[in-house]
Amino acid sequence: MTTMRTVRWENGVVVTIDQTMLPHKEEWIKLRSCNEVATAIKEMRVRGAPLIGVMAAYGLALTAYHSKARSVEELLREIELSANMLKETRPTAVNLFWAIDRILNKVKSSTGGVEELRHIVIEEAQRIADEDVEVNKRIGEYGSELLEDGDTVLTHCNAGRLATVDYGTALSIIRVAWEKGKRIKVIATETRPKLQGARLTAYELMRDGIPVTLITDNMAGYVMYKGLVNKVIVGADRIVCDAVINKIGTYTIAVLAHEHSIPFYVAAPLSTFDLKSTSRDVIIEERPPEEVTNVGSERIAPLGIPALNPAFDITPIKYVSAIICEKGIITREKFGALAGGDT
Ligand code: MRU
Repeated sequence: MTTMRTVRWENGVVVTIDQTMLPHKEEWIKLRSCNEVATAIKEMRVRGAPLIGVMAAYGLALTAYHSKARSVEELLREIELSANMLKETRPTAVNLFWAIDRILNKVKSSTGGVEELRHIVIEEAQRIADEDVEVNKRIGEYGSELLEDGDTVLTHCNAGRLATVDYGTALSIIRVAWEKGKRIKVIATETRPKLQGARLTAYELMRDGIPVTLITDNMAGYVMYKGLVNKVIVGADRIVCDAVINKIGTYTIAVLAHEHSIPFYVAAPLSTFDLKSTSRDVIIEERPPEEVTNVGSERIAPLGIPALNPAFDITPIKYVSAIICEKGIITREKFGALAGGDT
């Protein structure tokens, strides 16, 4: 499979792509502190649930690497402050909290000195990043079995390599199927208001030579009605007992897919599962209204109009045909047993 690692650790510097510049410019930025990482996550220079988790882990690694702490207690305090700052960046994708807590647990069980603690944090961050690549490959392998030669797959937002360290989740499935010789076509929804579909999914797939056609979000019903789509695959920011939380617009697509008897698949690593929670427990990120009243930097709505801007929506499990994770394909029925509820 073609590869392109979206984030690297280079001796105390985190190097990644500024996704706000895509598709016009592939600009690699250098982040040197946890503060810079937190800002990059908030400003969506890096985004996508798995990548946000990896970046948060690297944010803690930057704190540990550059710390001047002389005692373990001092370093632990700095790591905890950084963890709290990172947890405030975006509330919905559970991978962020998963990665931070994984490092905090590791650190708390350490009995060594300052240097060992520093080493543990950096090593665990690297491990989280490397595991993401392996997990996504496996998601691609399992999920590719669901795709057939000639399929046209609709995807929403960007669940590609730009949302992960490499390969992606939903797009990993498409990539693997394509490389197995299945002639797949993709329809990408533009994904208002931040246009991750038009900017990022289109960019990624065109770069790999996979046929992709762009539609506006409100064309999803039309393409299904016309029989131009026969499968949907999306990513997820959090999978709870009763629902999949993903980019705003996912729910609409799921209901439409159900109406047209089109399988609706969700691709996500286990680090996106939060089966202790239900959809009522999840904080849906509210973003600035200007993202809705403007297209890019251009204002299109009258001054003074209020606008809603929830970044994610909630798709009840009853609309999900199956979830593909690194352990295999979880059908809706199996998921029900796993989550301990009815589906
Ligand atoms: O607001 P974003 O761009 O971070 O939202 C991204 C999504 O909703 C993706 O579908 C999700 O994170 C899965 S990415 C593998």
